[in-house]
Amino acid sequence: MSTLVVVGAQWGDEGKGKVVDALASRADLVARFAGGNNAGHTLVVGSKKIVTHLVPSGCAYPGTLCVLGAGMVIDPEVFRQEITALQKSGMLLGSELRVSLDAHVIFPFHRWLDGLREDQHGATKIGTTRRGIGPAYEAKAARRGIRVRDLLIPERLRARLELNAGPVNAEFERCGGEDRLDVDAELARATGWVVWLRPLLCDAGSLVDEAIRGGKRVLIEGAQGALLDLDHGTYPFVTSSTTLAGGACSGLGIGPTAIDGVWGITKAYATRVGAGPFPTRLDGPLGDALRRAGDEFGATTGRPRDCGWLDLPALRYAARRNGLTGLCVTKLDVLAKMPEVSICRSYADGVTPGTDELELALPILERVSGWGDPILAQRIAEARRLEDLPAPARAYLDIISEETGVPIALVSVGPGRDQTIFLSEAF
Ligand code: GDP
Ligand code: IMO
Ligand code: MG
Repeated sequence: MSTLVVVGAQWGDEGKGKVVDALASRADLVARFAGGNNAGHTLVVGSKKIVTHLVPSGCAYPGTLCVLGAGMVIDPEVFRQEITALQKSGMLLGSELRVSLDAHVIFPFHRWLDGLREDQHGATKIGTTRRGIGPAYEAKAARRGIRVRDLLIPERLRARLELNAGPVNAEFERCGGEDRLDVDAELARATGWVVWLRPLLCDAGSLVDEAIRGGKRVLIEGAQGALLDLDHGTYPFVTSSTTLAGGACSGLGIGPTAIDGVWGITKAYATRVGAGPFPTRLDGPLGDALRRAGDEFGATTGRPRDCGWLDLPALRYAARRNGLTGLCVTKLDVLAKMPEVSICRSYADGVTPGTDELELALPILERVSGWGDPILAQRIAEARRLEDLPAPARAYLDIISEETGVPIALVSVGPGRDQTIFLSEAF
């Protein structure tokens, strides 16, 4: 394989940062194709914990090219802070970063709108990250979005900002928001961005295409997860972009024939943050115990994540919609800390994911034997080969693989780079 796409196969936070970092040691180029700083991807490198939001998670390897694709929405203020923080940690000190001229820009007014709408929504609240993601993608679809390339030409930027000022300020007024889009102030702000952003800009589609044609190893990093996909997720409780592997093609500007493999990441259990259906959610002490064991608090917003048992119907759905060729199972060590473990193979009443009925789906839970022994967690965390894993853990992986029809490609047994069992070659 020379081009591998890695995507979240649940509701986000599956461990994409950890897996991409573990795989990136062998990659020449790592590219993000969608989303923005709603993402929070955690890498643990030695004693350092790093959270990337916009920068691809290959950033911990000097010389590995990190590309932000056209399908992304980029908040330059957040991007600047992230680069500075990574550089302080000794990363991105060369010319490893490239940004698509066609990516869209998140301005402060997108963030304000996101927050204002969330505050107004009441019972139908999505629980967004309030980072301006929805408003920026909405402007893009309405063809009044502002691309990175528009920042370079002040007259064009002024015209684009003026196009936005009407509808945006009308919404602020209507909703009682105090903020306003001030075209001159935004132009001045953008002038400052261009100074440091310009050297990073490129035709990212051509860059990635040339890397693939040149036989380079290209790792493509998804954001969010399959059930948050705009078209195929639990709409309207989704993000505003394509999170599925298919989006890698449009988001970077490469054809489907360039992709050699697609790996989906799933936790050994399930989590969700924000509103929307989550059939296996555990309310009460077991859910709290899982949150504590897995330290399930958002890497971007710090919000507590809802936790539940592994939802195989949802994972099967994610496997199909992504065309998965491999599964990466993370946090097996966390599952082992639980006093008991259950799994969901199906829902009652034949409900299937991808329908509005998912909100009402009743998971049929099955207790999985062999778990609940405290020694398991330590044995799992120390395992470095499949054979090292205790029998209940291997049996659990077999269930996942059989139920989804996808082979296990990688198992993660801790947050560290070395706490990884490779079962397939990524490249
Ligand atoms: P992402 O958004 O998919 O990159 O995932 P996040 O970084 O938001 O959340 C995953 C969390 O789980 C992070 O804190 C990781 O350090 C941690 N993590 C990843 N894999 C494992 C694992 O196998 N075991 C444990 N204990 N933690 C893990
Ligand atoms: P990573 O890449 C988990 C969720 C939000 C909300 C919905 C819409 O770290 O896995 P948005 O701000 O995108 O408009 O919010 O999507 N969400 C995520 N949940 N992980 C993420 O990213 C997420 N990005 C967005 O909580 O429910
Ligand atoms: Mg995350």
